[in-house]
Amino acid sequence: MMLFTNIGALVGIDESTMERKQGAEMNSLGILHNAWLLVDGERIVDYGAMSSLEKSTETDDRQTTDVGGGWIFPSFCDSHTHIVYAGNRATEWLDKINGLSYEEIGKRGGGILNSADLLHNTTEEELYSQAMTRVDEMICKGTGAIEIKSGYGLNTEDELKMLRVIQRIKQTTKAEIKSTFLGAHAVGRKYADRQSEYVDLVCNEMIPEVGRKQLADYVDVFCDKGYFTPEETEKILEAAEKYGLVPKIHANELAVSGGVQVGVKHNALSVDHLENTTSVEFNALKGTRTMPTLLPGCSFFSNLPYANAKTMIAMGLGVALASDYNPGSSPFGDMRFVASLACIRMRLTPEQALNATTINGAYAMGLNSTVGTITRGKIANFYITAPLPSLEFYLYAHHTPLIREVYLKGEKYE
Ligand code: NIG
Ligand code: FE
Repeated sequence: MMLFTNIGALVGIDESTMERKQGAEMNSLGILHNAWLLVDGERIVDYGAMSSLEKSTETDDRQTTDVGGGWIFPSFCDSHTHIVYAGNRATEWLDKINGLSYEEIGKRGGGILNSADLLHNTTEEELYSQAMTRVDEMICKGTGAIEIKSGYGLNTEDELKMLRVIQRIKQTTKAEIKSTFLGAHAVGRKYADRQSEYVDLVCNEMIPEVGRKQLADYVDVFCDKGYFTPEETEKILEAAEKYGLVPKIHANELAVSGGVQVGVKHNALSVDHLENTTSVEFNALKGTRTMPTLLPGCSFFSNLPYANAKTMIAMGLGVALASDYNPGSSPFGDMRFVASLACIRMRLTPEQALNATTINGAYAMGLNSTVGTITRGKIANFYITAPLPSLEFYLYAHHTPLIREVYLKGEKYE
């Protein structure tokens, strides 16, 4: 057993084990000042105020760590990433600086197709090694659960190759991993101008293979202008349902695409992006299980509008925030910076941004019963910061290196 004492503040406590936080619930983040935390093996077993320490924990087979006033936060839960990719697309970044739009780069055969070419020419071993470097980078920045998508294969063989790499990451990292099949990320080169045949390939060949081999937890479609239509999306989701693949959809990034409504209709766990929405989309989400997941890092890096998080929360919806770590539109996975961006550009409060990057992210990848808060019985995924003057300071000083130690499954990550 491990006992952490003299914690300046234990943040993100939830005794009621809420599945997700919606509307005004997002305004509060359980905080206990001057606290201790007890971990047994992989799990959080107990916590309390320093004044209650002797009474609450009587066993002596425990190793004690004095945190010296540092704060403890539950690890970030990043529910939308594309971190299995080969190389980078820094050259396209220059094209963007010189004035080309995301769509224009795509039309010239760059963008996602460029990453697909690179991935095709990279061995599975090398892909795994590049992706693990990103996983390590994310863990060191406080992330303890990551959803990873395929979608740079765009033919059956390369999509399976990506999913096998994700499976290997799942088996080898201490972070919690969920895997999403995103065959419909773009139309593969061999199917240029034959989009409906590509959709058939996704439905009739890729999904059955992925389903039989149990290589994915979720299915995703890039349902947007210039990519896949709501009708095509629906077809793919129906094919995936037969294999128990729950949808998580890319929707409304480039236009009001109808993606939110298709996602809701098919009981999606999340609809992600939502940079372009009207009140129709917000109303469609009300009363559903679907979590709107917003990606401010993508808006920041790709000069897109920021999703209207404040209106969604005011309407009583919950929102999750994720990094969208990918080589094209958001090449970084720092969830603390994502939370800060949500405060700076979407005007979320630090409490809302931290709920959105922890428990609501956990919900958006089906992990809310095991991670996302400091709760007795949950997995001990947390990090320790330097002593902080206030909660808001942590997101305000977003690039000051304040994270000192990371624990995953109750073990110090080194
Ligand atoms: O979420 N929008 C689609 N997919 C990614 C971008 C992928 C890429 O450009 O490689 C996104 O932004
Ligand atoms: Fe994405």
